[in-house]
Amino acid sequence: MRRGVFLFLVSVVPCLAAGAILAQDAPRLRGPDPFTREVPAPPMQRQITDDVRVGRNYPDQPPVIPHSIEGYAVDLNANKCMSCHARKFTEQSQAPMISVTHYQDRSGNTLGGLAPRRYVCVACHVPQTNAKPLVENVFTDMDAITEPERQPARGRH
Ligand code: HEC
Ligand code: HEC
Repeated sequence: MRRGVFLFLVSVVPCLAAGAILAQDAPRLRGPDPFTREVPAPPMQRQITDDVRVGRNYPDQPPVIPHSIEGYAVDLNANKCMSCHARKFTEQSQAPMISVTHYQDRSGNTLGGLAPRRYVCVACHVPQTNAKPLVENVFTDMDAITEPERQPARGRH
């Protein structure tokens, strides 16, 4: 009998606690109630296109896109992004050149041109919007942890 009570406590109590924690955030992320009800899609958020390059949150982060990419084709025949970001076009476009990793295959061999695995730029680089975050972002920059007193004023992330 005592064993039964013990098993009940170790199995049910943590579940209830987890449920209570999840329930705090759930309503904000959940769709309509009941879920079978159809609601109009929320309006598309306006993209930030102020041409100001955004700082990276860590060195390996694909930088976000600070300009409009509306109508830029990336398909079998053309890659509009490369018409500005390829090495040979950066002088006239003043766009930052794709970095050397974009010319390497997954084994680290440097290729003569853009690596196929880097062809679809927007798989990694994305525009930003002013959308209100669904949950609070508590990300802390590594520099803020190691050198809290020497923090430059940072822009949006
Ligand atoms: C007409 C030229 C042009 C085209 C086309 C273009 N870009 Fe850019 N891009 C720029 C310029 C110039 C900048 C520098 C910031 C600015 O002026 O907006 C830039 C900045 C960026 C940055 C920020 C780099 C950093 O270090 O912060 C990314 C990422 C980027 N572009 C990705 C793309 C992708 C992906 C596409 C295709 C969907 C694309 N660009 C198409 C000109 C272009
Ligand atoms: C698989 C993910 C991935 C794809 C696809 C990709 N990139 Fe990147 N890109 C990155 C990462 C990660 C970085 C930052 C680290 C680095 O340079 O490798 C980066 C960096 C950049 C930079 C900044 C370079 C610098 O030295 O400041 C530009 C510009 C850029 N990418 C443009 C592009 C364009 C244009 C394409 C498409 C032709 C593209 N990327 C495709 C992941 C990607």
